Amino acid sequence: MQKNLNNVIVKLVVVTNKSLQSGLLLLLLASPPLHAEDDTRELVNLPDMMQQHMLKNMRDHLQSINEILSSLDNGDLETAAQLAEHRLGMSSLESHGAGHMAKHMPPGMREAGTRMHIAASRFARKIEEGDMQAVYGLLSEITSACVACHAAYRLR
Ligand code: HEC
Repeated sequence: MQKNLNNVIVKLVVVTNKSLQSGLLLLLLASPPLHAEDDTRELVNLPDMMQQHMLKNMRDHLQSINEILSSLDNGDLETAAQLAEHRLGMSSLESHGAGHMAKHMPPGMREAGTRMHIAASRFARKIEEGDMQAVYGLLSEITSACVACHAAYRLR
């Protein structure tokens, strides 16, 4: 990473000496490429069908977070709580086929998933109780679990 960054800086300095304008253009275009050796995430081999299923769940996770935030924004706390419990929380485990998939996951990945589902269910309860201070904390606990798992594991 550091080497890539240095390369970009060297290129930038050289080109900037020639012409400030093209130097700035280079900076915009030359985001450092991500080489496979920079990727420290652990590859988790899932059977193909399961991988497709997990990625579909993932897209639904992101959509759910978006719908939850929209509902909160509209003051519709009941919908936000329902979405959190049924699409991300402990009640979503069966529809997501989590039991099958968990067997194929390394322990750290399983833990991140469990942390996310527990945080989402607690988030739903706190919305119902109207404890908005706790709601913010738990929302960030949910997204932290997404980020932690993404930082450590990949499927492809
Ligand atoms: C237990 C681990 C784990 C958790 C928790 C998790 N993800 Fe993922 N997610 C992954 C992995 C692994 C991939 C695939 C990365 C790759 O190889 O490209 C992925 C991919 C995705 C994708 C891309 C889907 C596609 O079609 O390419 C989205 C969007 C996503 N996750 C959203 C979320 C959101 C939002 C959350 C939290 C609410 C979340 N994920 C929680 C592991 C996780």
